[in-house]
Amino acid sequence: MQLQHLLGIEPLHPHNITAILDLADHYADQNRSGVRKSDALAGCTQINMFFENSTRTQASFEIAGKRLGADVMNMAMQASSIKKGETLIDTALTLNAMHPDLLVVRHPHSGAVDLLAQKVNCAVLNAGDGRHEHPTQALLDALTIRRSKGRLHRLNIAICGDIAHSRVARSNLILLGKMENRIRLVGPETLMPAEIGAFGAEVFHDMEEGLKDVDVVMMLRLQRERMDGGFIPSEREYYHRYGLNAEKLSHAKPDAIVMHPGPMNRGVEIDGEIADDLNRSVIQEQVEMGVSVRMAAMDILMRNRRQAATEAKL
Ligand code: NCD
Repeated sequence: MQLQHLLGIEPLHPHNITAILDLADHYADQNRSGVRKSDALAGCTQINMFFENSTRTQASFEIAGKRLGADVMNMAMQASSIKKGETLIDTALTLNAMHPDLLVVRHPHSGAVDLLAQKVNCAVLNAGDGRHEHPTQALLDALTIRRSKGRLHRLNIAICGDIAHSRVARSNLILLGKMENRIRLVGPETLMPAEIGAFGAEVFHDMEEGLKDVDVVMMLRLQRERMDGGFIPSEREYYHRYGLNAEKLSHAKPDAIVMHPGPMNRGVEIDGEIADDLNRSVIQEQVEMGVSVRMAAMDILMRNRRQAATEAKL
């Protein structure tokens, strides 16, 4: 596998996805054991550039890099020269001149991370760009599903809520589709993406129908920061129709798992008791798998980079 960057799920083959998940599984076991340090990224410099707020993704990339022995630097983007008018590309070129090996980038504009990757000569990982892609989130979701269900194919998976504004939904749709699962999108008409037909998923506007007999229920946050108008009548009404509670969940398979990428709005898209129910909810395991998946992705990109450098010398 010769991936140079991880910009999205779209360019990955199913065998790339399986290779990342297999290595992540190994790191997940290692992270649970006492031995948490490896030297796969020893001597490498990893720079995290987050132009949008983040709690778990940024912490997870930082811990992943440190567990692999990289030197990790978090750019304080609020205090950077972007505020003085420097463009994203100029900032990237400045950092590139310091010879980092890995750049982890989150940006509010779809496509910004792809553009940046064309300008630098290190490996770039997309930590979420606008409503476009969030590949490591889809990979950690896939690993959580695979570990919980024992497989990652022929599952009935419902992705529910604000699909239109969600890069998590988009990356998951692509990944779960590539791995041959049956996907349902459940939510109000106003929160369905325009290009919905392209994904080959079934669309439901009623939670009970949409959740009937599914193996996996994936909930999404209402992405208010990306909404420029009234997409829902009120949060109360939204919770009534689309908030996941025990009654709605009872229509899914008895062993269906509940997922959420976080941050969660309890009482808006999900009932707090369901989120905390360890028999159903795998939300904390998603966070745990996030570190392992990011370790695997960075490890693979660095190996490819070293191999490309060796070949270039020959
Ligand atoms: C998601 C994101 O940033 O796209 N969060 C995350 O990375 N865990 C989802 C969200 O913000 O709702």
